[in-house]
Amino acid sequence: MDLLKGIEERRSSRAFLEKPVEKHILEKLLDLAVQAPSAINLQPWEFTVVMGQERKRLSRLLVKRMREMNISCGPGAKNRLPDYFVERERGLLNVMVPNLPENTDFQDFINHGSCDFYGAPTAIIITLDDVFSTARLTDIGIVVGYLVLAAHALGLGTCPIGLITAFDDDIKETLSLPEQKQVVIGVAVGYIDPEAPVNRSRSVRVPLEDVVKWRE
Ligand SMILES: Cc1cc2nc3c(=O)[nH]c(=O)nc-3n(C[C@H](O)[C@H](O)[C@H](O)COP(=O)(O)O)c2cc1C
Repeated sequence: MDLLKGIEERRSSRAFLEKPVEKHILEKLLDLAVQAPSAINLQPWEFTVVMGQERKRLSRLLVKRMREMNISCGPGAKNRLPDYFVERERGLLNVMVPNLPENTDFQDFINHGSCDFYGAPTAIIITLDDVFSTARLTDIGIVVGYLVLAAHALGLGTCPIGLITAFDDDIKETLSLPEQKQVVIGVAVGYIDPEAPVNRSRSVRVPLEDVVKWRE
């Protein structure tokens, strides 16, 4: 697949087929993702691939903890967001809500869906060893970018799931991950459900002039 076309076409999927993703395809996906650059080639990322019944067990725990702790997907802002960011957030809601069943609570769909990895058969949990400072989160961001594009090229859908970082301790305990690993993000990976209306949602981008400054 043409890389530029893939970059343009890719969008997050929020409904997946139950069909498992074959292990050799997941291996290929990870092999492509780790071609990402990293500072001093440290490759600070670690992946835990959770599949089948384990994925379902993890989601049951996450949904339970989400309800108990009353956690909701949010922008992770330190202060009140300026209006133009709020507008972008609303833009996503506006493209998704028409493709959800009538009377669906959008926030509940996102919160529950995220904890369930939107039904994807595979969840990839990406961790960073706490020997590193937050500077290395940049490397994780880049590897996630590679991963979602590589998945698209392999005919797979993805959705990055930041919400799960709220359950860092629970995830580490249930997946037997060492205490010094920080859960940075999860990615739902599977075959896109082509019939699901939610997958017709196409997030839009603000015009370049809103985010680019030129100095010549
Ligand atoms: C760091 C990060 C965290 C995200 N966390 C979530 C999440 O918890 N739940 C969710 O449904 N989508 C999540 N997303 C997906 C974004 O909502 C999505 O990428 C954005 O709306 C742009 O849409 P697109 O991916 O379809 O282009 C996350 C994306 C990123 C990059």
